[in-house]
Parts: sequence; C-alpha cells; structure tokens
Amino acid sequence: MAKVKTSYFCQNCGYEAPKWLGRCPSCNEWNTFVEEIVTKSSNKQVTAFSKSTQYKSAPQPINKIETREEDRITLKDKELNRVLGAGLVPGSLILFGGEPGIGKSTLLLQMSMQETDKTILYVSGEESDHQIKMRAERIGDLNEKCYLLTETSLDAIFSHAESLAPDIVIIDSIQTLHTEQIESSPGSISQIRECTAQLLRYAKQTETPVFLIGHITKEGSLAGPKVLEHMVDAVLQFEGDRNHVYRLLRSIKNRFGSTNELGIYEMLGNGLREVDNPSEILISEGNDKLSGIAIAATLEGLRPMLIEIQALVSTAAYGTPQRSATGFDLRRLNMLLAVMEKRCGFKLGAKDVFLNIAGGIKVNDPAIDLAVVAAILSSNADLAIEKNICLSAEVGLSGEVRPVNRINQRISEAEKLGFEKVIISKNNKGVKQEVFTIAIVECSRIEEVLRELFG
Ligand code: TYD
Ligand code: MG
Repeated sequence: MAKVKTSYFCQNCGYEAPKWLGRCPSCNEWNTFVEEIVTKSSNKQVTAFSKSTQYKSAPQPINKIETREEDRITLKDKELNRVLGAGLVPGSLILFGGEPGIGKSTLLLQMSMQETDKTILYVSGEESDHQIKMRAERIGDLNEKCYLLTETSLDAIFSHAESLAPDIVIIDSIQTLHTEQIESSPGSISQIRECTAQLLRYAKQTETPVFLIGHITKEGSLAGPKVLEHMVDAVLQFEGDRNHVYRLLRSIKNRFGSTNELGIYEMLGNGLREVDNPSEILISEGNDKLSGIAIAATLEGLRPMLIEIQALVSTAAYGTPQRSATGFDLRRLNMLLAVMEKRCGFKLGAKDVFLNIAGGIKVNDPAIDLAVVAAILSSNADLAIEKNICLSAEVGLSGEVRPVNRINQRISEAEKLGFEKVIISKNNKGVKQEVFTIAIVECSRIEEVLRELFG
C-alpha cells in the first residue's frame, strides 16, 4: 500500500511545513498548524527542457497578439457592476468575502433573482434549499432560471454544472466544499486550495464567471487566506457594522478594473437596496443646530461623499480622561487633540473626548481631519457650526491646514447637496473657482478656520 503523505499547514496563512511547529514562521501566529493528508498527483518529474515540442503554446510578440474587447456581462445591480469595474468578465473567478451575517448570501441570491435572462447555478453547502427559497421569496420575484443545488462535493457540482451549462455559478461557501482528490477535511487549507484551483480551471475553460463566498477570520482577513487571493481574479469584500443598516462593497483586488470603487447598500427587510447617493443618508436630517457636529467632504475610492462627524467633549469624571473613536483611527484622534492643545492652546487634556462617524462607516481619508477638529472644538465651546458649511482638509502636526487630493470633486459634491460654503486649504492647487457657485474659503491655519466658523 502506498504510504500516506501528510504535511502540516498553518490554518491562518497556508504555510506548509514538514513537521508540526508551535509558531508559524510566515504569519507569526501561535498554534495554527494542523496535519493534513496530501496525495501527490503524480511522481513523474518533467524536466523542463526535455520535450519542448509537446506544448501547444508558443511565445508571441506582444504587438501580434489579438486584442479581444472583453465582452463584459452587465449586471442589473449597478453597485456590483461598478465594483467589478463595469460588469462581470466571462471566465472570471471572484472571491466574495465578509463576516458571517453581513449579507453575502443575500446579495448574491438577490443578484441571482435579478438576472432573469441568465441561467444561474447557486450552490449552497450551508443552508437547505427550503431556507434559500424562503429568503429568495422575501427578496422579491423568483427567477425561474436560477437553480439551487445543496451539495458540498466539488466533483458532483461539476457534473451538474456540465449538464446545466449555467451562465453564472455561485458557490456558498468555498469553506464547505471538498474534493475526493484530497483526503483532508472540508475547510482545511489544502481542500480550499485544491477546490479553488479546480473551480479556476472550470471558469477559464467554460468561460463561466464563478463567485466564491468566503468567510472571514476573527482578524478580518479572508479565511483560507492569502493563497486564495493570489489565485482568483478579483477579491470583493462586504463590510459594515452589523448594528447599522449600511453595507459597503469594496474591491481589494481586481484584474479587470480599479480597486478604488465602492458600492453602498442598505439592508432592508426585503433584501439589499442600492444606495445611489450616499451623502444624503449619511447626513442627518433636521434643521436644529447642534454643537459638536461638522460635515466633511470625503472620498471613498473615487466616490465623493459627505459625512457627518459627531464629537462630544466633556469634563472627565475620573482621573484619566477617556478618548474613544468610532469609525475613525484613535491614534489620529489623539494626534489631532495634541495639535489643538499645543498649537492652538485649547486645554483638552482633562476632557473626555468621544468621536463618532454617523452611519457606522469607517473612514481613512485624512481629508476629514479638519471636520474632526471643528466638531471637537464646537462641542468644547458648545457653539454650533452653521448647517450649510462643510470642510475638507488634512491637519498637519504644526496646526497647518493641508491640501487634499481631488478637491474639485469634493467641492462639487458639496455644491450638489446644497452646501453654501466649503473650507479647504490655501495650498490646494487647481481649484476651479469659476465653475462653482458655492463659496470656497481657503485657510492655512486652524485658527483661521475657527474664526470663519465661530466668528
Ligand atoms: P446573510 O446573507 O445570511 O449573511 P452571510 O451570508 O454573509 O452570512 O445575511 C443575514 C442577515 O441579513 C441576517 O442577520 C438578516 C439580514 N437580512 C435582512 O435584514 N433582510 C433581508 O431581506 C434578508 C434576506 C436578510
Ligand atoms: Mg451565508
């Protein structure tokens, strides 16, 4: 009997080692190695130079290669189209990640129901067909060309796919699949890797786009991990705060488009709604002026949007003041507080500072710095900022107001939403003053901004 070959795999990053290790040398995680059976596909070693005539492929000069305009499949879901880069490319393998319960199955099921002119194979290893049907009914009209298959064996899935010849395949989820060619259990690194490789071959050979749903680990990276990201054509991540209704769809990798695009959805009782104009939902309604609120013009990828920054500054009840930020980097908040203290003379050292970005979204754009500073100072002085002002600039360590990229796009979004004044940095180049009717105020220091806001 042939000897069973085993290897140890890090379940976090996929690193392979011949023996058990306590700590993974690749990702430095502890206690992540699990023994998995690996069957060698063949022992034949093909020496690279020996029989070159047997290959059909040949090198070609790049200018002789025929260009084929990728005939992309335009989906009915505009947000998904945008994130994929103007539609779905035939034969592409797309990994769709996100935390459990965020709405991955819902989004792809909704897509399956919308694409009524395509045959769709929805394979689920997680839910029964009853459950899926109930959910589909909740979302809307059923698409009679969408076929459900509850199966976890990849070999069976391929045989069904062959007879059905679907236009799109959805696998929910890659972690539940297994193939007979590998003996380790479903969800293990070698199974995930082998199943993805086979699905990749299927996608390329049949020109069928395949979506793979993948779970995310506690740390927030895709489980079954980096190895998958290298293999697939695109990695989309569905994120959001489960307690809020908004969900963001980002592309982390995309061989056929830009990774700057962002899709926004709202989770409703009957599925996900596409949000065309994010600014409107992120700014709270109402005309009463409240202190501690400032509006920032930010960019998520290439999409401009206005968001509301809320701050609360109060005298610390206990010895050590608290600093807390939701949706904003805490270290950056501390830095901005230090700048206000040192450069502008505000005594915030003995105050609790809470910062919140409305709508449960996370923002990394430094252009919201100035709005953060304005919101904190507004709350500290208990003076409200006029509702028709928005801010867009970075704040430097010496208290200077710094320029940000794509300023015209930000200004035009503010103008579109009816703002009357936008505060930006004096050093921002290329501001097209003449095309805007909104008042553009240029400042170079925080003090000037304060004078502008509070008089
Ligand atoms: P689901 O798609 O099952 O998440 P995932 O596949 O990422 O694990 O989403 C489940 C959540 O979505 C669940 O908590 C309920 C909510 N939901 C709605 O709010 N409205 C709906 O119409 C549907 C179908 C789900
Ligand atoms: Mg699911």
